[in-house]
Amino acid sequence: MPPADPARFPTLHVVRHPLVEHKLTLMRERTTATAEFRQLTREVAMLLAYEVTHDLPLDEVEIETPLEPMRARKLSGKKLCLVSILRAGNGMLDGMLDLIPSARVGHVGLYRDPKTLIAVEYYYKMPHDIEVREVVVVDPMLATANSAVAAVGRVKEDAPPNIRFVCLLAAPEGVTRFAAAHPDVPIYTAALDDGLDAKGYILPGLGDAGDRIYGTK
Ligand code: PRP
Ligand code: URA
Repeated sequence: MPPADPARFPTLHVVRHPLVEHKLTLMRERTTATAEFRQLTREVAMLLAYEVTHDLPLDEVEIETPLEPMRARKLSGKKLCLVSILRAGNGMLDGMLDLIPSARVGHVGLYRDPKTLIAVEYYYKMPHDIEVREVVVVDPMLATANSAVAAVGRVKEDAPPNIRFVCLLAAPEGVTRFAAAHPDVPIYTAALDDGLDAKGYILPGLGDAGDRIYGTK
């Protein structure tokens, strides 16, 4: 399969940073053990959180350093909500919360039916004031995009002002489908891979993210 060209996808942001690429390579290796994989997921998620929040608004405030007063900038108090697509999204959540500890957290429980690959919802819980919060939906894998399309569609019913989607790996098929369903939702990913296999796994990918984070296979 020829490498996919990220420039084909206007809503896609591939986060290019040597640390991200290095850690992702370690995650892709089949011999990487569960504890290390989980830690790397957390670290890459933190780096992606840095990128996805690059345009958060700032307010100027008056502060005093040990030497003199100054005007400096602080986050404008805009409210954020991280939404994890269960279960693998939780592996990314911790890294993002390390960087944005005051964010609220919502959960969408979805699994892919192994035969149809259709996303089946089993849980949904958001903060009560989700309609005033900027939302960042997280899930390590954007494969067919069935899960992400369904999760973002469900969150949209609660009408937050805007939504961004963050994943570790995206397949071109998933990006195309997600952008068609949610053209208003930018996608941030650590890598755009080559495609999907017959079972809907990303190639070359990193395998089943949930199983590798939690050691369930
Ligand atoms: C994985 C992954 C995504 C989904 C991506 O979850 O975490 O949610 O697959 O695939 P898609 O783009 O084709 O929908 P999975 O269904 O394996 O559930 P899990 O997180 O509980 O392991
Ligand atoms: N879900 C995963 O965990 N991995 C893939 O490659 C595709 C979907």
